[in-house]
Amino acid sequence: MSRDVYEKIINLGKRRGIIFPAFEIYGGVSGFFDYGPIGTVLKRNIEEKWRKLFVYNEGMVEIESTLIMPSQVYNASGHLAHFTDIMTKCSKCTNILRTDKLLTDIGIENAERLKTDELDRLIEKNDVRCPKCNGQLTKSEPFNLMFQVEIGTHSGSMNGFCRPEAAQGQFLAFKRIYLSERERLPLGIAQIGRCARNEIAPRKGPIRLREFTIIDFEIFVDPDNLSYPKIKYVEHEKLRLLVAQEQLAQSSKIMEITVKEALEKGIIKNQILGYFMVLASKFLNDLGIPENKQRFREALPDERAHYSQQTFDQEVWLQRWGWTEVSGHAYRTDYDLRNHMTCSGVDLRVYKAFDKPKKVAKNVLKPKMDVIEKDYGALNAQIIANLLSKSDHKVICRELNEKGFYELMGQHLIKLESKHIDIIVEEMVESGRKFIPHVVEPSFGVDRILYAVLEYAYLEKKKRVILELPLQLAPVQIYILPLVTKNGLPEKAREIFKMLLDESLTVIYDESDSIGRRYARADEIGVPICITIDYLTLEDDTVTLRDIKSWQQVRINSRDLPNLLRKYFKNKLRFDQLGKPL
Ligand code: GLY
Repeated sequence: MSRDVYEKIINLGKRRGIIFPAFEIYGGVSGFFDYGPIGTVLKRNIEEKWRKLFVYNEGMVEIESTLIMPSQVYNASGHLAHFTDIMTKCSKCTNILRTDKLLTDIGIENAERLKTDELDRLIEKNDVRCPKCNGQLTKSEPFNLMFQVEIGTHSGSMNGFCRPEAAQGQFLAFKRIYLSERERLPLGIAQIGRCARNEIAPRKGPIRLREFTIIDFEIFVDPDNLSYPKIKYVEHEKLRLLVAQEQLAQSSKIMEITVKEALEKGIIKNQILGYFMVLASKFLNDLGIPENKQRFREALPDERAHYSQQTFDQEVWLQRWGWTEVSGHAYRTDYDLRNHMTCSGVDLRVYKAFDKPKKVAKNVLKPKMDVIEKDYGALNAQIIANLLSKSDHKVICRELNEKGFYELMGQHLIKLESKHIDIIVEEMVESGRKFIPHVVEPSFGVDRILYAVLEYAYLEKKKRVILELPLQLAPVQIYILPLVTKNGLPEKAREIFKMLLDESLTVIYDESDSIGRRYARADEIGVPICITIDYLTLEDDTVTLRDIKSWQQVRINSRDLPNLLRKYFKNKLRFDQLGKPL
């Protein structure tokens, strides 16, 4: 049976030091992959491309925060309560399985959206058994996907978790960075780093990993101004959207629509979301993934992460896995900052001065201490009053009005009713306002993107494998090959090798095997240009350059290499403009 491209890439990954299963000598554990020498640089180049586009070009910033965080962080962020998948267990062999995947495997669509009871009902109705031993399955239950760790020694330890996303680092450090960045909004704070999720039985190689690299980009904005000035440069760009409405009607019809129209029609909730979706599409395009192999699928309300008000998943078409999410674009509102503010008791609001002071009628909240003390005790009453003073009074008034109560989140959830709070309308002059910034988050899975890049770069020509990567991604830019290993050719080749290294090009010197085999090796790791040093080089200082795409060859003087190659790698010259064709 012929192998699909996934198998071919995994095979190439192992053979050429790109990507391969971790802990191989101990049999491996699914969901863990290592990068080899070529994969490591390829990954770095993808990340660098992202940085240029999203951080440097947009005047944003990048941070690096810790992998392990104490449990309070994930209590506040909602991950302790909500970051779960539904699992079942084989009562015979104790195999742990994702209940929705078992149903997907027997052809039931959208099983990941079903609630526990419904999943169990379908398992029973279809008599689904353990795929390993045919044993009966237990009732399903939620399984938290975070890896728990103990921080410190047994006696004085505290619970912590490996981060399941990088974003919490930005929320925790927000106030500090906001101040050091001269209190500007929108302020995008990016982070590229490792995360861990204890996926239940992952079966998709590098597509579903238990440890992976995430790019989380938290863009903090004023909720009263979700505009983005640079939107005017992209508003006529088209996006390919699969909106929620189509999915609810069991359709997968793509809407090709300009960002401008999508914003005007309210299909995309705000300009920041729209702008960065265009950038995400350009990013993948630059990585060699054509536009018609990308789409943005709007997540349905029950699919969205607990913090999101709108999410578009950027998906890429992969041969084995079909449409696969590689990035998510979520409007997280003030969910995270608000919860960290209430749980930590630290004021995370920012202050913005009005152009001139304003007279405003304002609802002022006064805690009724006697009633609070009676219901919650004297000690808690002070804490409650303190938390109240730092909460958003507008939201409290609205919730008291609409729901009749407000849930204050401290160490414990405290339910406050109208009897606990006096609302007094006061007229006052204000010179500015305090608010919790909202957050728009583009978030990218680097490992999935890298796999997609490999799939779109993979070619076979005359029974040879070629990785035709976009020029800027090439892990190795130049291969230096002396024709033979004698008569002064290696010395001359090493001289050229050194000269190009000094130009900060990524160069490999290779003198083993025949020229043909060395070209083949270079093609398999996507080296754009091979330079051959032969006897003529010793006479007239010219060398042969060979192009990975066309296998065309040109002859140039080695003195011109630095200047011409610099231009070539900046896409300012084509290969055929580098020298005389052979
Ligand atoms: N921060 C994005 C995610 O958790 O998927």
